[in-house]
Amino acid sequence: MWRSGVMATVSFLRLCLVAALLMAFCRAEISSKVGINYGQLGNNLPSPLHSVHLIKSHLKAGRVKIYDANPDILRALRGTDIDVSVMLPNNFIIPVSSNQSLADSWVESSLAPFYPATKIQYLLVGNEILSLPDKTAWHSLVPAMRRIKAALKKHGLNKVKVGTSMAMDVLEASYPPSNGTFRSDIATLVVEPMLRFLNRTKSFYFLDVYPYFPWSRDPYNINLEFAMLESKNITVTDPGSGLVYHNLFDQMVDANIFAMSRLGYPDVRVWIAETGWPNGGDYDQIGANIYNAATYNRNIVKKFLSKPPVGTPARPGRIIPSFVFALYNENQKIGPGTERQFGLLYPNGTGVYEIQLNGDVPKGGYKQLPRSTPYKGRIWCVVAERANRTAVGAALAYACSQGNRTCEAIRPGKECYRPNSLVRHASYAFSAYWSQFKKQGGSCYFDGLATQTIVDPSYGSCKFPSVTL
Ligand SMILES: *[C@@H]1O[C@H](CO)[C@@H](O)[C@H](O)[C@H]1NC(C)=O
Ligand SMILES: *[C@@H]1O[C@H](CO)[C@@H](O)[C@H](O)[C@H]1NC(C)=O
Ligand SMILES: *[C@@H]1O[C@H](CO)[C@@H](O)[C@H](O)[C@H]1NC(C)=O
Ligand SMILES: *[C@@H]1O[C@H](CO)[C@@H](O)[C@H](O)[C@H]1NC(C)=O
Ligand SMILES: *[C@@H]1O[C@H](CO)[C@@H](O)[C@H](O)[C@H]1NC(C)=O
Ligand SMILES: *[C@@H]1O[C@H](CO)[C@@H](O)[C@H](O)[C@H]1NC(C)=O
Ligand SMILES: *[C@@H]1O[C@H](CO)[C@@H](O)[C@H](O)[C@H]1NC(C)=O
Repeated sequence: MWRSGVMATVSFLRLCLVAALLMAFCRAEISSKVGINYGQLGNNLPSPLHSVHLIKSHLKAGRVKIYDANPDILRALRGTDIDVSVMLPNNFIIPVSSNQSLADSWVESSLAPFYPATKIQYLLVGNEILSLPDKTAWHSLVPAMRRIKAALKKHGLNKVKVGTSMAMDVLEASYPPSNGTFRSDIATLVVEPMLRFLNRTKSFYFLDVYPYFPWSRDPYNINLEFAMLESKNITVTDPGSGLVYHNLFDQMVDANIFAMSRLGYPDVRVWIAETGWPNGGDYDQIGANIYNAATYNRNIVKKFLSKPPVGTPARPGRIIPSFVFALYNENQKIGPGTERQFGLLYPNGTGVYEIQLNGDVPKGGYKQLPRSTPYKGRIWCVVAERANRTAVGAALAYACSQGNRTCEAIRPGKECYRPNSLVRHASYAFSAYWSQFKKQGGSCYFDGLATQTIVDPSYGSCKFPSVTL
């Protein structure tokens, strides 16, 4: 199957090359300019108007993607030459899938008032919906995409491309890339009809690709330079296709291309909906630092803007349109610390490191960044500063319900009972929980109430359990 995919790609390219008219059709439709994801999960972020200024003047991004249809942002983007991607929020997918008038009224009230003064060009129906457990939403995805497309037509936005964003876990096999296969629970049910829709409407397969995650799960077997597009001499040949890879990003993208070919859609264009690298995180998140983030993002931007385009081994010479993640560090994102530190900018608008999404490099090169070495030693998980006390009480009760020894030491009369303070007890319970369950995926997070520390909170005879790196 993969062979027919490659052949089809090759003949498609040849077609583009021989016919000037076709070439214009194949190439001119999309430009290589790099966009930015403007996420808003922070309580300390600049206003939409100031953000748009930063996107244009500081980052020099050609496109912006938002995670809803926020009217203040769409208004702030009015009259700019920035291409805009909006999103139908996940919770609309099920209702919209069976109700055309709801699709119509959403487009009419959320998008039509801003179009075309705001250059809305892409509409993603949901965010990584196929990675969430709600199967009803999976089944509703393609019907919702069709209804949204119909609604756009009705309101004169027929040029807007409709897609949905996908994470790498839509694949059940991705290595080697030629082995790329969609998960069996979605392949025929959702992905096949989705690809038919994307192919028919000449839209894109919007993919979120983070080489950071596979690398950080397996840093001893995957070379860091290979993950950061920094290696000059590592080559990996895919035994199935014979294609030669120089970086992890290409392998991840091509796994999706082979998976699409396997379902009979070798030509649907790929759009990188998100990619990036965390500039910081918690002590246990290796490789998340400013040096690596700057290295990856500068390299990936260079790749996206290369002239002529380099594409990927399975699709050489093709433009890869993209959005880098993300505009800001967002302090209200859930999950481990890295999730909150993907920004190119701090919330105060200053750059975390030098980067411009139009590919410009400062005269005389970038300022040298310090290389950081990973922390080695013990870490504890304690109550974060300014955590809501009521919520901490609930989190303490939850931690104590996990494992029958977690809160043993803070029971009355035991070594960590006194001083009887909520914060001390919760810090003990968070540390005890995390040290027991980290291996099974337990995190030091507790809805943002917990934070990692390398300062031992033990006192007297009360010894706090820890994680050792
Ligand atoms: C469909 O959506 C319209 C517009 O929002 C709403 O008035 C109507 O009640 C919905 N119909 C159903 C069956 O949910
Ligand atoms: C290809 O993927 C399958 C799972 O679908 C796996 O069992 C197999 O080992 C993979 N092949 C290689 C060469 O890794
Ligand atoms: C995809 O679209 C192309 C161009 O419109 C068409 O020729 C091709 O048959 C479509 N592929 C499938 C599998 O429907
Ligand atoms: C690649 O180059 C680096 C630095 O020049 C060197 O340390 C490494 O051994 C080389 N790796 C291979 C596979 O040749
Ligand atoms: C912006 O925030 C960063 C990170 O907190 C800080 O290092 C920097 O000094 C701040 N810049 C200004 C101008 O306040
Ligand atoms: C604190 O948390 C409780 C329970 O989770 C919540 O009801 C309350 O609104 C929160 N208070 C503040 C100030 O956020
Ligand atoms: C406490 O946990 C241990 C190990 O997980 C288990 O064997 C034991 O049955 C548990 N005891 C109680 C009272 O739940």
